[in-house]
This record gives sequence, C-alpha cells and structure tokens, in this order.
Amino acid sequence: KNLPLILTPFKLQSVEFKNRIVVSPMCQYSSVDGFANSWHMVHVGQYALRGAGLIIMEATGVQPNGRITPDCLGLWKDEQTAYLKEIVEYAHSQGAKIGIQLAHAGRKASCYSPFSGNGWDKLATTENGGWPDNVVGPSAIQGWPTAGTPREASVKDIKDIVLSFGQAARRAQEAGFDVVEIHGAHGYLIHSFLSPLSNHRNDEYGGSFENRSRLLREVAAEIRKYWPEEKPLFVRISCSDWADGGWNGDDSVKLASVLKSFGIDLVDCSSAGLVPHQKMHGTVGGPSEKAHDHGPGWNVPFSDKIAKSVHDISVAVVGGIQDPQYANTILERKSAHLVLVGREFLRNPTFVADVAKAFNVELNYPLQYNRSK
Ligand code: FNR
Repeated sequence: KNLPLILTPFKLQSVEFKNRIVVSPMCQYSSVDGFANSWHMVHVGQYALRGAGLIIMEATGVQPNGRITPDCLGLWKDEQTAYLKEIVEYAHSQGAKIGIQLAHAGRKASCYSPFSGNGWDKLATTENGGWPDNVVGPSAIQGWPTAGTPREASVKDIKDIVLSFGQAARRAQEAGFDVVEIHGAHGYLIHSFLSPLSNHRNDEYGGSFENRSRLLREVAAEIRKYWPEEKPLFVRISCSDWADGGWNGDDSVKLASVLKSFGIDLVDCSSAGLVPHQKMHGTVGGPSEKAHDHGPGWNVPFSDKIAKSVHDISVAVVGGIQDPQYANTILERKSAHLVLVGREFLRNPTFVADVAKAFNVELNYPLQYNRSK
C-alpha cells in the first residue's frame, strides 16, 4: 500500500510511533491537587482510540508552585503516578504511544485557569489556591502584565527545581510513559532562563548563551538519571520571542546543535509566549512560508532551518497545522519528522481518520467500531 509519509511509522530510540501525527500537549485545567482523573482518561483516550501515533499529555508541574494554575496537572508526589499509569495502559491498549510534558511555569505561575471565572492571566490569590508570594523567575522582572513579578530564584531554588524534574521523570517512568517532553517554551521557567529579555542574572545561570542554557542542560541531565536511554526525551522550545533583543531563530539553531549532548533526542518547535509586546509576523522563512500571526504552520520556517542544519537531532513542529495535505507536505519537504496538532484535535478528534481519507487509506479502527464488513 502506498502510504503517505505522515502515516508511516517513525522510530526514536527504541520507541516506534505508528504514524507521525502527534497530539500537542494541551492544559486541561481539570485537576485537583495535581491529580489526573477521568477527564484526562477520556480526553487522552479519545485520541488513542482514534489513531494518533503519539499523545503528549499537558504541561505537568514538577513542583506545586511550578503549575500555571491551581487546576493544572502535577507529578510532584508519588501518589500522582497511579492514575496516570492507568491512562498510559489504556493508550497502549490502542497501539498509541503516550508522553507527558514536564513543566515549571516560572514567572507565569499561579494564574487563574481560563474558566475559573476569575479572569484569565491574573494572579490567583492564596484563598483561591494560588501562591502569589512564591512565584520564581530568573530575575525579578514581570512577564505578563497581569501575572506577578517573580522573585529571583536563588541557586538553591534552581537546584531544587532541577531535582524535581528528575523525580517527576522517575514517576513518568514508573507510570510507563514512552516519551518525556521538557517544557522549554511559551515563557515558562526554562524559556525565561534562555531569553535575555527575562534573564538578567550575573551568576552561572545568566549572561552568556551557555549560562542561559545551563538550566535546560541540568534539567535534561537530571531527567536522564531516571529516564532510560532507550526512551526519547523531547524538549519544546519557543524558537523566537518575536521581540527585539529576544531569543530568535538563530539562537534556536545554536541550541538545537547542542541538545544531543544534553541527552535530548527531539526538538519540538513552537514560538512566543515570553513577552506581551511580541509581534508574530514575518521575517523568517521564504516568501511561500512567511510566518504570520497564527497562520498555517507559523513555526515551520524555524523547524525547517533546524532540520536542515542540525543532523543529530529529530525535529517536530506545531502551530496552525490542520490540513492533511499540508501536514504531509511539511514532512515531505523534510521541515520536520513529526507534526503536532493542537486545536484541530480539540475540534475534531477524528483528525487522523481525516488524514487517512485525504490519502485514500483505510484506517484500522478498534474491532468494536469496525462495522464496515
Ligand atoms: C495549549 N498549548 C500548550 N502548549 C504546551 O506546550 N503545553 C501545554 O500544556 C499547552 N496547553 C494548551 C492548552 C490549550 C487549550 C491550547 C489551545 C493550547 C499550545 C498547543 O500545544 C499548541 O502549541 C498551539 O495550540 C498551536 O498549535 P495548534 O493549536 O495551532 O495546532
């Protein structure tokens, strides 16, 4: 059978994804005390059932104060592992691979969730489950106008956070996940260390490129103590801050070229989220693929550049990918090895079937749903 590239398997380390369509991590703001529950089972389960190659579970706090909101998922204590293990087992029963995105929200922590009724992007008060006095960042610089001003993380804070990433990875391994993704994007802690706009430190975690990327390197190394070599480790980065003086596409290529030495196997290319004055329009890429505000494939120019100039790392891309032909074209052009799809999957959990249909391929649904014969 003549399968389009997007429906062919892709193997990383010893983990094989049955196709190259990945459900992008998306916060559900549906946890109590960081625990997963039946919402997450059904949310993730629908994609496993309907053929996604890999599903990456949402930004998951490695510490309670590393959550974006009080309703975010967490993996900071052993008790949080058990239900995640059930979700993993269900995904595996459907032939899907499953990952989890480990995160620390940094200066964008302790906000209200979008549907809490308290206003999105506002600092959650202690009475409402927030931790407004314990928000940390690389420097005491406010990020989003409605979020808090963080306190500058001490070296001890940083070491504790690094250790927490390792412990969360140990739990992810115990739960049976196939992939761990480090959240290094969207203005959260690791991204805020990378960018000179948010990191004004004078110590070994600030200043030079090497120093600003030290936190990511230490986090990856700590994770690798618990996360076996044969399982892939991803990092999502914001390839550009889309702001003058900020992190940009060239920095991302430079970072991508050292990620393998950090123990990372794949770079997942997103962008933005650090500063409110970001201007997401077109200076990267050729005329046919101008990045523009949330248009189709706005991060493809970045992933393409990385994929074509760094050869020891795999590349994924996210953002505005919802057309089956276009998604496949990204892969055909070698602009990425995997495509991640977010909002289209929220609208349409049968996206993988749509891709199959677009290429006249029959998808193997579970026996329970197979009524065609
Ligand atoms: C997101 N996004 C996101 N990104 C991430 O790295 N971790 C996360 O937990 C979340 N959470 C999240 C929740 C919701 C409801 C949305 C819509 C988005 C960003 C997401 O993964 C993706 O990068 C963007 O939505 C762009 O891709 P699409 O939606 O254009 O395919």
